[in-house]
Amino acid sequence: MKKIIIGITGSIAIYKTCDLISQLKKKNYDIEVIMTENATRFINPLTFGSLIGKPVFTDDFDETGYQIKHIHIVENASCFIIVPATANIIAKIANGIADDPVSSAFLAATCPKIIAPAMNVHMYENTATQKNIEICRSYHIHFIEPAVGHLACGYEGKGHLAPLEDILEYIEYVTSEHPLKGKHVLVSAGPTQEALDPVRYITNHSSGKMGYAIAVAARNWGAHVTLISGPTNLKKPFGVDVIDVISANDMFERIKDFMDFQDYIIMSAAVGDYRPVSYSHHKIKKKDHEMVIQVEKNPDILAYLGQHKNRQTICGFAMETENVIDNARKKFTEKNCDLIVVNDLFEDGAGFQNDTNKVALITKHFVDYLHLMSKEELAYRIIDKLIKIKGE
Ligand code: CTP
Repeated sequence: MKKIIIGITGSIAIYKTCDLISQLKKKNYDIEVIMTENATRFINPLTFGSLIGKPVFTDDFDETGYQIKHIHIVENASCFIIVPATANIIAKIANGIADDPVSSAFLAATCPKIIAPAMNVHMYENTATQKNIEICRSYHIHFIEPAVGHLACGYEGKGHLAPLEDILEYIEYVTSEHPLKGKHVLVSAGPTQEALDPVRYITNHSSGKMGYAIAVAARNWGAHVTLISGPTNLKKPFGVDVIDVISANDMFERIKDFMDFQDYIIMSAAVGDYRPVSYSHHKIKKKDHEMVIQVEKNPDILAYLGQHKNRQTICGFAMETENVIDNARKKFTEKNCDLIVVNDLFEDGAGFQNDTNKVALITKHFVDYLHLMSKEELAYRIIDKLIKIKGE
């Protein structure tokens, strides 16, 4: 169980920390909470104590027990995050001041550290605060930038606590092992769109969720990740270079630009096999008779990668509706892959728009049938398999 220290300071955004802690509990972290005196004026420590099921550290000079609490509490922690962080706590940290439970424990901690600020826009943009943030960054402290919006003080601007999902993602990143440190991973995701005219295109139902989950997992494991993404509604993950493309040809060109220096290439995009032979620059008007759209083949990107690979370990996907394993094996051989992830579109919980997937992993000699799992969990399983195939 990974141990996380949550430092809480006196900002109105503190109410969001309750939800954050409850979500972290569900992810099975061992959580310790430390509050400044001002934070306890907003919310009673009892709230956080009830959420984590143990006492909250609020007093450096508490005489119960003879451990030096701010030293002891941070031992073996995987991460220390201050959320919400006021301008005051950032200034103290930048200057090594340790005069309250949060700043003393933060100074004593040697684990990765994160600060998630929340304050009035003018306080945030003040040169002093910005300088202090710069100083903290130079100490390798991560910052999760506040968002722009309507602030509790009545102002509009930057100062909102970052969305909880971003904070959770950041915590997952810093608390992960980094077996892919120094490695380059290229992931393709989403559908492609093949335009017919300025208003119509041919596409498929891919949501991009699987590819995005793989990009996030590779980033969490320390890789430098490039994500070549067809059109999706998904949020761009932080710390990943996202390159937007539309058509299969765009995707092919961008992948060729990046392929040479990759260690792993994962083709999870649902690349359209065909595109219209011609593109009409004006909207095609409806006719009284039937209309035929003539299409031509798109490049098979995965096959190209298989033919031109040198050091890259290559993973393809296959979505089948019949003869699932046989068809996937054929793709494995014909496209010269190191791994094929195959799913049966008709399996419950598998396929395009779901948050789960049920797949088999096909390597040269084995078929590994995996149970139904979230796309996030599967992403780690796929990367783990690729690391093993590469023999790292
Ligand atoms: N793929 C690709 N370029 C294409 C089509 C597919 O790179 N033009 C990749 C996909 O990203 C996936 C794998 O090939 O990793 C298999 O895709 P799939 O659509 O299942 O197979 P196809 O080769 O297109 O064969 P079919 O549609 O006949 O099953």
